Amino acid sequence: MTRFYVTTPIYYVNDVPHIGHSYTTIIADIIARWNRLKGRNVFFLTGTDENSVKTVRAAKENGYQDIKKYADEMVEKWKNVWKILNISNTDFIRTTEKRHADTVKDFFNKVYKNGDIYKGTYEGLYCEGCENFLTKSELIGDLCLYHKTKPKSISEENYFFRLSKYQQRLEQFFKENPDFIQPKSRMNEVVSFLKTGLKDVSISRPNLEWGIELPIDKNQRIWVWFDALINYISGGNWPADLHILGKDIIRFHCIIWPAMLMSVGEKLPKKIYVHGFFTANGQKISKSLGNAIDPVALAEKYSVDALRYFFIREIPMGEDGDFSEKALIERINGELVSDLGNLVNRVVTIGEKFAGKIEGKDELSSKLNLDKIEELMEGFQFHLAIKEIFNFIRECNRYINQKEPWRLKDKELGHVLYNLAEALRVIAVLLHPFMPETSEKIRQQLGLKELGHIKFGKFKGKIKKGELLFRKVK
Ligand code: MSP
Repeated sequence: MTRFYVTTPIYYVNDVPHIGHSYTTIIADIIARWNRLKGRNVFFLTGTDENSVKTVRAAKENGYQDIKKYADEMVEKWKNVWKILNISNTDFIRTTEKRHADTVKDFFNKVYKNGDIYKGTYEGLYCEGCENFLTKSELIGDLCLYHKTKPKSISEENYFFRLSKYQQRLEQFFKENPDFIQPKSRMNEVVSFLKTGLKDVSISRPNLEWGIELPIDKNQRIWVWFDALINYISGGNWPADLHILGKDIIRFHCIIWPAMLMSVGEKLPKKIYVHGFFTANGQKISKSLGNAIDPVALAEKYSVDALRYFFIREIPMGEDGDFSEKALIERINGELVSDLGNLVNRVVTIGEKFAGKIEGKDELSSKLNLDKIEELMEGFQFHLAIKEIFNFIRECNRYINQKEPWRLKDKELGHVLYNLAEALRVIAVLLHPFMPETSEKIRQQLGLKELGHIKFGKFKGKIKKGELLFRKVK
């Protein structure tokens, strides 16, 4: 079996997941489920990035003396949200785990032995939101682009990684692997950044009370990004086939991480997919603005699958988008209730009462462009793939209107029902990555033991009507 290893970023634990984090994790989950469908042995890793000053600050703000205890409690919250959103990760890595700290120390020692680490002084800016050393040119006014806060001016002794040494090798690598970063526009962004010239980066910080100690200097701790990126090795089955991440952390993943791997002689990940950011009702999502929408509340109100569907259908993959409850409700009432829910309901209502044989000649499968859907899925064009699936759903509804099965009986009805039931089965297979619960409900109503393959074949189920899939939101 081909293996497929996909990752999400590991998230900071100073807060609970909002819809932005959920978006990334759902994209990764769709990829994991799609690859399982394709018969690959999927390893899907997510986790938490805990060795950050943010963790210490949040713990203290919340009255915790024991930072680890705070992190433990927050991790439970993250895990619980992923469970509610039906995330099918196969492992969960925490950077406070021993397996991770051991891998990081080992990795650091290798980089050090290769002569890629030296001691120096860093004088400049540091944004604690980004956990990153910034230059003035990266600011807007005097504020961090992402956090809209003023970075700290710091002057400290720390250890540097010779990132500049990898300039040419990275250039060469990108030239030889033009598909390494997807979408293409992100690849171009990275290549132009590279052209501005790489500087060495600090990879340790002095006088921190929390984090992984530097193996060669007890007064320093490893910079949280150097530590965090290594999670993909400590938690996984390296090399990864795919890293999924948002556009805010592209340089860490597309420049520093590959250079770190080159330094220790490890393989590079096979691909990196970068998605856009979204706003909530037109505003940047942030804790301080208090508009960090809770994905669990939305899932409870509208169902997990409605939320998963909305994320993918509403925001073209790779682009920025906006989240609003109004737009979510429109999609539920329009596509989920009127197209999909209606189709399932019509088919199972007629099918349940039919006592004859559900068999006949296929006359619907040609309306479904499976090759196109496969191509769109493999090329991360999920919004188009799901649109294609819904076009087929509408075709099926049209087929019912044309055939008027309520007027038919016996063999003729068996034939029309065969087409509709097989179409629904295939739709359920295709929807599984996006809406696993809905797919399962369709399987049950079709009375199938398992959903089976993606192509039209014989229908082997016994239709039994169940609850409506989606209800209209008033
Ligand atoms: N801990 C680092 C990642 C280390 S990976 C080795 C980190 N964590 S984070 O908690 O801040 O999560 C950042 C990721 O969450 C982004 O890259 C993106 O995938 C996702 N998002 C956070 N806000 C988002 C939006 N508003 N919109 C879409 N995705 C967003 O950075």
